[in-house]
Amino acid sequence: MCVAADWRRLYWWVVLQWVVGVALSGPCAQRCDCLPKLPIVNCSSRQLASVPEGVPVNTHALNLSINHLKTLARRRFSGLKQLRELDLSDNMLTVIEVEAFAGLQNLLILRLSRNRLKIIPVGAFSGLPNVQFLDISENEILVFLDDMFREMPSLQKLEASENDLVFISNRAFSGLANLQELNLDRCNLTSVPVEALSQLTGLLQLRLCRLGLSTLPNNSFRQLVRLQELRVSHCPWLDSLAANSLIGLNLTSLTLSHCNLSAVPYSPLHHLVYLRYLDLSYNPITTILSNLLGDLLRLQELHLVGAGLLRVEPGAFRNLAFFRLLNVSDNRLATLEESTFHSVGTLEVLRLDGNPLACDCRLLWVMRRRLWLGFDGHSPACGSPVQVQGRMFQDFTEVELPRLFTCRQARILTRKPQDVRTDEGHTVLFFCAADGDPAPLIIWLNPKRSVLTGSGRIRVLPNGTLEVRYAQVQDSGYYLCVASNAAGNDSVSVSLRVRGFPASTRNRSGPFFLEGWSFASGQAPVNGSQPFPFDVKTLVIAVTMGFLSFLSSVAVCFIFMFFWSQSKGQIKHTATIDFVPRSSASAAGGGRATMETGRFTMKLI
Ligand SMILES: *[C@@H]1O[C@H](CO)[C@@H](O)[C@H](O)[C@H]1NC(C)=O
Ligand SMILES: *[C@@H]1O[C@H](CO)[C@@H](O)[C@H](O)[C@H]1NC(C)=O
Ligand SMILES: *[C@@H]1O[C@H](CO)[C@@H](O)[C@H](O)[C@H]1NC(C)=O
Ligand SMILES: *[C@@H]1O[C@H](CO)[C@@H](O)[C@H](O)[C@H]1NC(C)=O
Ligand SMILES: *[C@@H]1O[C@H](CO)[C@@H](O)[C@H](O)[C@H]1NC(C)=O
Ligand SMILES: *[C@@H]1O[C@H](CO)[C@@H](O)[C@H](O)[C@H]1NC(C)=O
Ligand SMILES: *[C@@H]1O[C@H](CO)[C@@H](O)[C@H](O)[C@H]1NC(C)=O
Ligand SMILES: *[C@@H]1O[C@H](CO)[C@@H](O)[C@H](O)[C@H]1NC(C)=O
Ligand SMILES: *[C@@H]1O[C@H](CO)[C@@H](O)[C@H](O)[C@H]1NC(C)=O
Ligand SMILES: *[C@@H]1O[C@H](CO)[C@@H](O)[C@H](O)[C@H]1NC(C)=O
Ligand SMILES: *[C@@H]1O[C@H](CO)[C@@H](O)[C@H](O)[C@H]1NC(C)=O
Repeated sequence: MCVAADWRRLYWWVVLQWVVGVALSGPCAQRCDCLPKLPIVNCSSRQLASVPEGVPVNTHALNLSINHLKTLARRRFSGLKQLRELDLSDNMLTVIEVEAFAGLQNLLILRLSRNRLKIIPVGAFSGLPNVQFLDISENEILVFLDDMFREMPSLQKLEASENDLVFISNRAFSGLANLQELNLDRCNLTSVPVEALSQLTGLLQLRLCRLGLSTLPNNSFRQLVRLQELRVSHCPWLDSLAANSLIGLNLTSLTLSHCNLSAVPYSPLHHLVYLRYLDLSYNPITTILSNLLGDLLRLQELHLVGAGLLRVEPGAFRNLAFFRLLNVSDNRLATLEESTFHSVGTLEVLRLDGNPLACDCRLLWVMRRRLWLGFDGHSPACGSPVQVQGRMFQDFTEVELPRLFTCRQARILTRKPQDVRTDEGHTVLFFCAADGDPAPLIIWLNPKRSVLTGSGRIRVLPNGTLEVRYAQVQDSGYYLCVASNAAGNDSVSVSLRVRGFPASTRNRSGPFFLEGWSFASGQAPVNGSQPFPFDVKTLVIAVTMGFLSFLSSVAVCFIFMFFWSQSKGQIKHTATIDFVPRSSASAAGGGRATMETGRFTMKLI
């Protein structure tokens, strides 16, 4: 009894509340809530199959989300001149008729996401002169037609992600001169819609995701001169950027993540001198090379997470005087040397966790700064050596550092003198083995002190041995092996003396003897294996020049004799001589000379 009375009281109380609510808020649309005082109508989640009647004309925001609307008929909202925001997301809309929104002259925000639109007819958005934000994401739209957004001249932000776009017509974005943000994430496009994008001259932000392209062609974004932020991500086939793909852009933020780039795109990037943020995460990039990012003067942040990065070369961030954040977590880095940076003083945040770090002197600079360098809540841990394996950088005490974070200077083990004398044509090996911690790098310098590489006739083998094949006389000299690591370097010098054969015993098919030597091919010996101090071509030219000068002297003599004999016979004879206009010997005959082009006539006295 008592319980039943309570229930009845509660029921009346609820009814009273409802009546009072309605009385305060005035007439409201059927099955909707009109929030008292605020001109907001909430029709969300009412299982509506059509737009309800009787929405107050002074409504500012109408929420029709999460209903069962299937179509929007023409001029359905025409009375709502005050409406600023219309939310139609999470319905089952498949059709929007032409002029469906006509009359909403003050509408600023239109939300149509998560419906089932496959196509939006041209003119569907007509009569919306003030809309600034349009959300058509998560539909099934296949194409953007020409002039589709033409009647939304105020549009600033277009959210079109997660559609099944296969094609964007060339003039689809015409009229959108004020568009600042365009999001085409997770669309199925197979190429950058270059022509369509070129209409968006005011664009500041562009997001392109999951494109099926394999390269970014030259001039992909040429007209987007105001673009500041570009995100291209989740393109599993994208493995290269053409050298001029980003030309015309002046970006401050660039993301190229989750693609298949195997190297940092140095040359496409180098003109982006205002770039501050660069994200190349989740690309199979193994090395950041030295000195190639130096043009990005204002770069502040680099993210290269989960990329399989093995090495960041010393000098990689040289010139980057404002560099403050490096995010290289989840890679395969063994170390990160202080000399990588322009100055570690500017560095504020370093994400180095998830790397097999070798805790030696090369990382001492990180340890020393571990208390004020931000690890973003993820302290790095040591991967080796064994006695500190797994320990977090934060957990080390100051007194341990000098003992644990040490290196052993590179030291060359093969110290016994290597002085080789040999005859021309033999192959010679010089050994250079070294130890140290970390394992030293071995380089060889030739007698002219330039670094030798792993290829060519004189080369460095992978085990550090120097190989001189078919030794030549000019190979003679002192070679230097330098072993270096973070703790220092060591060097050792070896000598090679090569004795040449006397000329008469030379192989007669060699280049000096003219058999088999072709002048027409112009093939001069270029790699220093030519054993003679002069080459045949020079010889031939010298001889030819000598011969020519002899001929010309003879010719001059002849001409002189000719004139002399003529002057003896007939006086006042006119001779015309073709000449190359260079000679100044015009007075040679002692007569009056008149110059014409390339010829002169002289009268002989
Ligand atoms: C609108 O109505 C729905 C369903 O009754 C409710 O869940 C939601 O909180 C309401 N929204 C506002 C802003 O009152
Ligand atoms: C409309 O209502 C839904 C559910 O209450 C809410 O999530 C959404 O934010 C509302 N839309 C607007 C524009 O307030
Ligand atoms: C778009 O891509 C998604 C995911 O790859 C796929 O499920 C969908 O079928 C594609 N749509 C079209 C129209 O190709
Ligand atoms: C892009 O432009 C550069 C420089 O003009 C040129 O060398 C390169 O071949 C072009 N690449 C493609 C794919 O057209
Ligand atoms: C990514 O590139 C590598 C070679 O660089 C290639 O073997 C692989 O198939 C590419 N992945 C895709 C999804 O194209
Ligand atoms: C490039 O962008 C920067 C910063 O956004 C701006 O200061 C600079 O004037 C722009 N340069 C050009 C050539 O547009
Ligand atoms: C580093 O990158 C990861 C993965 O992208 C991200 O979650 C994290 O927020 C980044 N850290 C900083 C400091 O930006
Ligand atoms: C240069 O030397 C290499 C071997 O050291 C040889 O194969 C090549 O033919 C030489 N080139 C010329 C132009 O002599
Ligand atoms: C280095 O390799 C070469 C050829 O592979 C071999 O002849 C030489 O003995 C090796 N040197 C050492 C020190 O192992
Ligand atoms: C070896 O170390 C000295 C000083 O320690 C340095 O001057 C020299 O440049 C280094 N040489 C090489 C090849 O690293
Ligand atoms: C001369 O050298 C060539 C290769 O350059 C070789 O084939 C030929 O056998 C040599 N002749 C003599 C007589 O050594």
